[in-house]
Amino acid sequence: MATSRTIPLDTGCCEPATKDKLMRYGYSVEELEGLPESVIAMSDGCGNPTGLGMINIGETVVDLGSGGGIDVFVASKKVGDRGRVIGLDMTPEMIQRAKANAEKAGLNNVEFRSGEIEDMPIGAGSVDVIISNCVICLSPDKGKVFREMFRVLRHGGRVAIADEVALRPFSSEEKEDPAKWCSCVTGAITEKEYASELKNAGFKGIYVKQLRKPGELTPAVFSAFVSATKP
Ligand SMILES: C[S@@+](CC[C@H](N)C(=O)[O-])C[C@H]1O[C@@H](n2cnc3c(N)ncnc32)[C@H](O)[C@@H]1O
Repeated sequence: MATSRTIPLDTGCCEPATKDKLMRYGYSVEELEGLPESVIAMSDGCGNPTGLGMINIGETVVDLGSGGGIDVFVASKKVGDRGRVIGLDMTPEMIQRAKANAEKAGLNNVEFRSGEIEDMPIGAGSVDVIISNCVICLSPDKGKVFREMFRVLRHGGRVAIADEVALRPFSSEEKEDPAKWCSCVTGAITEKEYASELKNAGFKGIYVKQLRKPGELTPAVFSAFVSATKP
């Protein structure tokens, strides 16, 4: 597995987060209750992929690009003691920080694995729900990510993603600017591309819903919730 790509830790989409900001992004008081402050502050997503009732007690959930672990921790409450949540991230520092956060929170149904979402260290057909928050827009090979998602999900498994979606395709020059790519802008694909790449990977019931309007600083992308099912 290639491990040479890294994203600088100071190039996320957002400033250090607060509870208020996360509630504006769709998290409930109950979901955030009891989470260590460090988990909240490190959160760097664009929505709440755990929030649409797609995660049930006892299920196995994988969070692609888990960062400091916010969605792993929120999902861990939803799956309960009989379920488990695996956070996958390619940045060793993020894995270390997420593990430290899990220890602080005293959770024993979560695990953090080092690896790339284009080549997941996860068995085929072993996952009920895949979540991800503002990460797939960073991948240089989204088709590979979607094929890997399809491989690791069981039949009937669900996808619940919060991500940035582009209003128009970006030019090659725009994509070459690492600052714009790493701040979750020019790596984003359009709604049409998202739906057709998920369909090509084998997914059905594909749904893209705008969560927020494009921002002043990022007029060419909007935050969206993307869901799909493996038949
Ligand atoms: C914008 S942060 C989002 C973190 C987290 N999902 C959250 O909501 O706080 C992006 C994270 O995805 C990870 N990441 C980016 N590309 C990745 C890839 N191809 N494979 C695995 N992890 C990746 C980065 O290391 C970083 O931790």
